[in-house]
Amino acid sequence: MPNGRATDARGRTFLSRRSPLVTVMANAAYKAARGLVRDFGEVEQLQVSRKGPADFVSSSDLKAEETLVEELHRARPNFGFLLEEGGTVKGTDSSNRWIIDPLDGTTNFLHGVPHFAISIGLERDGKMFAGVVYDPLRDEIFTAETGNGAYLNAKRLRVSARAQMSDALIATGMPFKGRASHPEYPAMIEAVTDSAAGIRRFGSAALDLCYVAAGRYDGFWEFSLSPWDIAAGLIILREAGAMVSGIEGDDCMMESGDILATNGRLHEDLRHLLAEAAKTSRN
Ligand code: IPD
Ligand code: CA
Ligand code: CA
Repeated sequence: MPNGRATDARGRTFLSRRSPLVTVMANAAYKAARGLVRDFGEVEQLQVSRKGPADFVSSSDLKAEETLVEELHRARPNFGFLLEEGGTVKGTDSSNRWIIDPLDGTTNFLHGVPHFAISIGLERDGKMFAGVVYDPLRDEIFTAETGNGAYLNAKRLRVSARAQMSDALIATGMPFKGRASHPEYPAMIEAVTDSAAGIRRFGSAALDLCYVAAGRYDGFWEFSLSPWDIAAGLIILREAGAMVSGIEGDDCMMESGDILATNGRLHEDLRHLLAEAAKTSRN
């Protein structure tokens, strides 16, 4: 791993701890982001049109995915893919697989709300190995590779040190139309509202996870996510010292899509709070 100063594809100098692998991922994200940012400008105009921006957004999403696939395939031709839009593409290298969400925060994007990201995870031998989440409007890139720490641009990331639920800012994703129903969710919101300093629902699970890694949020939970929502975030969280589990404390986040991520100190408290709320809502 080279150390010292380096320049990324945008001509920006950073303290180089980015390996060649993470550099490939970051450059693919930068390239795909150019189209998304251009299209986001259009979407803001389309809000008032009768037809609305829905078709335009889904083609923007697809274009971003195509760019990511092209760039990553060029750099690592044997790796497979799990794509939100394109599904599974088998590679000749069965150990390595990219897991990609080209646009996380679609509902925000569609409504002209400036909060969305590109998420690229690399799974190696069934475990998350590296991740990049890029928020192009803030020009914030979250990166991590196993054993090398997590970064926001050139800055090393650590989770927050908050140990009291009463000081904690907790994020969540609310169930919405078309998703599995979670009747216990309102009781969970009520319990966290009563105990924490605040709750946020910003609408990009990939960024929610990175915000826990960055110490902005102290905890996050959501049900029924997909592997591409969480793949990159999982490794960024782990490398930033976060604790991650299923909502019941299990280790099946990629399979179930249910995730609880915290700064570690608040993990048991938040898990317990959610479990108690779920229990009461069933009685
Ligand atoms: C969605 C976002 C959102 C979460 C949803 C995801 P998309 O991803 O991450 O925050 O609540 O569950 O599906 O559809 O914008 O890629
Ligand atoms: Ca997503
Ligand atoms: Ca998406």
